[in-house]
Amino acid sequence: MNRTIIQTGDGSHTLYVQDLGERYHSIHGAIQESVHVFIQSGLRQHEPTADVLNILEIGLGTGLNALLTLIESEKSGFSIKYTAIEAFPLEKELTSQLNYTGLLKADEYQPAFELLHSAEWNKAICISERFELLKLHITLETAMFEPQFQIIYFDAFGPRVQPEMWTDGVFLKLYSSMLQNGCLVTYCAKGEVKRTLKRAGFTVETIQGPPGKREMVRAWKR
Ligand SMILES: C[S@@+](CC[C@H](N)C(=O)[O-])C[C@H]1O[C@@H](n2cnc3c(N)ncnc32)[C@H](O)[C@@H]1O
Repeated sequence: MNRTIIQTGDGSHTLYVQDLGERYHSIHGAIQESVHVFIQSGLRQHEPTADVLNILEIGLGTGLNALLTLIESEKSGFSIKYTAIEAFPLEKELTSQLNYTGLLKADEYQPAFELLHSAEWNKAICISERFELLKLHITLETAMFEPQFQIIYFDAFGPRVQPEMWTDGVFLKLYSSMLQNGCLVTYCAKGEVKRTLKRAGFTVETIQGPPGKREMVRAWKR
């Protein structure tokens, strides 16, 4: 995949994939979008009922969602087990240029951000006292999980360019990988995606989207 770094509206970086004509984040602001969709609408809505919150991310990519979650875990004091799958890991020459910790005024997290990317694949490691990371170098299509997740960050490329990521089979599999009262959040609010989520068993909410986007989806396993 041919990927180049570009700047978004809030100054934060994202990647542009030439072959797909698609970006990793909203052009209005990568940090702004990730905070709104995954942290504010997903992580912060979830009352931790257990000692450890178990999160699955579909598409680790730049590691922005993982970094924001790590920072949040330090601030709020709960522990996180973070599993992220990724089919096409980024090269170090790209990840080393990403400007996230600086813009977040969180320079003290830069070593953790680098560790998050350099960490061995398919092996759980502790990034901090409260944040355990398991990066799986696999495709979503081949992934299999026991029921364990309280939150899923569904951050695949959009259904226009990657329809195979938004199918009944995928959402059924994710539904069974979740615990009761778990939620899946995604930036995409297309009608067909909501119908597919409902068919898989989810209770679907359409909620306010990040700046520049009217709506997004939060889907619950009730
Ligand atoms: C929209 S990007 C978001 C990435 C990441 N969450 C971020 O904030 O940078 C989608 C990610 O899904 C990954 N991906 C594409 N096809 C995949 C597949 N079949 N299975 C798992 N990951 C895939 C891409 O490589 C990319 O990292």
